[in-house]
Amino acid sequence: LKFVCYSNDGVDEHMVWLIGLKNIFARQLPNMPKEYIVRLVMDRSHKSVMVIRRNHVVGGITYQPYVSQKFGEIAFCAITADEQVKGYGTRLMNHLKQHARDVDGLTHFLTYADNNAVGYFIKQGFTKEIHLEKDRWQGYIKDYDGGILMECKIDPKLPYID
Ligand code: ACO
Repeated sequence: LKFVCYSNDGVDEHMVWLIGLKNIFARQLPNMPKEYIVRLVMDRSHKSVMVIRRNHVVGGITYQPYVSQKFGEIAFCAITADEQVKGYGTRLMNHLKQHARDVDGLTHFLTYADNNAVGYFIKQGFTKEIHLEKDRWQGYIKDYDGGILMECKIDPKLPYID
């Protein structure tokens, strides 16, 4: 099992994984238009942290780092159906936090969580209270109704992965 983070960089292996991840999102997030999922996953300003098992993608998180604002917006998060509730979602989020802090220099994440995923995000340290000053994120994140805006502060020192 490995965790990788790639953007649309034209490398064959990365593209195969990104397409696999796009298909997992399309299946696990049926309310999201498929064209919208493809557009963001393949957008070069978005990055995807992916769980790879036996060279196949089993889940991931696609996010957009706003480096100047020091926060990231999680666009999509999912684990393929037959691999859920095995702890991959938690390990994925920990890899995301470590990468976002150490590579992108981010301090927070924001996401519009689906109602049924709020419990998962709370377990990952997200809250419904937004502490980040509005001028740091207003106008940056996509307005999206049908979800609940949630925030997570990334610890500046905590080792999130071994
Ligand atoms: N509601 C409440 N708790 C949850 C949920 C949920 N939907 N999903 C997982 N949990 C809990 C687990 O019980 C576990 O708790 P524990 O630590 O006390 O045992 C903890 O969260 C972590 O579980 P994992 O096994 O690490 O989570 P998993 O690998 O199943 O991944 C995920 C969670 C990504 C939500 C997965 O279930 C999934 O793909 N769901 C369908 C798609 C979805 O809803 N994605 C989020 C949409 S919002 C967005 O994309 C911005």
